[in-house]
Amino acid sequence: MTSHNFMNPVNKPDAFEAKALDKIRSGHLSEYYEVLPDSFRYARTLYEKASCLACHASAASAPKDVTERYGVEHGYGFKEGEVAGIISVRLPIRSFWKVAYSVVGPIQIALLVSAFLVAILFIQFAVVRPLRKLTLAAERISVGQAADLGVDRIHRKSGNEVHQLILAVERLRASLMLAIKRVGRRPEPPA
Ligand code: HEC
Repeated sequence: MTSHNFMNPVNKPDAFEAKALDKIRSGHLSEYYEVLPDSFRYARTLYEKASCLACHASAASAPKDVTERYGVEHGYGFKEGEVAGIISVRLPIRSFWKVAYSVVGPIQIALLVSAFLVAILFIQFAVVRPLRKLTLAAERISVGQAADLGVDRIHRKSGNEVHQLILAVERLRASLMLAIKRVGRRPEPPA
């Protein structure tokens, strides 16, 4: 709270408040605000009411303890309805990244990055590599070559989908071999 005619020197207006008082008094405004580089400042006008004049009208009519404490020079001479001063607030403005960084610190970022790395490594080793091997094996089988699917190392009831796919390819390979054998044995149809 401050005024152009302040009673207590501690309430002396700062640069923004001085400007706000000036604009409010010359333009008869009820409020004034500015967006500064680091903050939003807002000032609201205070008007003298009849009740205020007990202390702010004149030093002669003001209570003794007020004049004793604050002297007889400043903060008096107001009339009802006049601008008494302003009450102002300051809201700090922080950049989006500063706020974001204060919520999500370096530890959280590190955790997030490592979670991604773990996920990528898992997909690489548990899915991509086995599928690549299986593709190569299936290609060999398709041209009648022997291929090691690594079936011996897989449990028949494994819950792993890639394992089940390998087992299915192995069954396909076995039926294919049987079919080829049968076709090979079939006697030539008589001419
Ligand atoms: C009982 C006496 C009294 C009354 C009534 C009173 N004031 Fe004050 N006012 C003071 C004193 C004393 C100060 C200095 C206070 C301090 O130390 O900050 C002051 C400070 C102020 C200030 C801050 C600037 C300055 O002068 O230091 C404003 C603005 C103000 N008063 C407005 C008003 C308004 C508006 C009213 C009526 C709604 C009012 N006052 C009623 C005694 C009074």
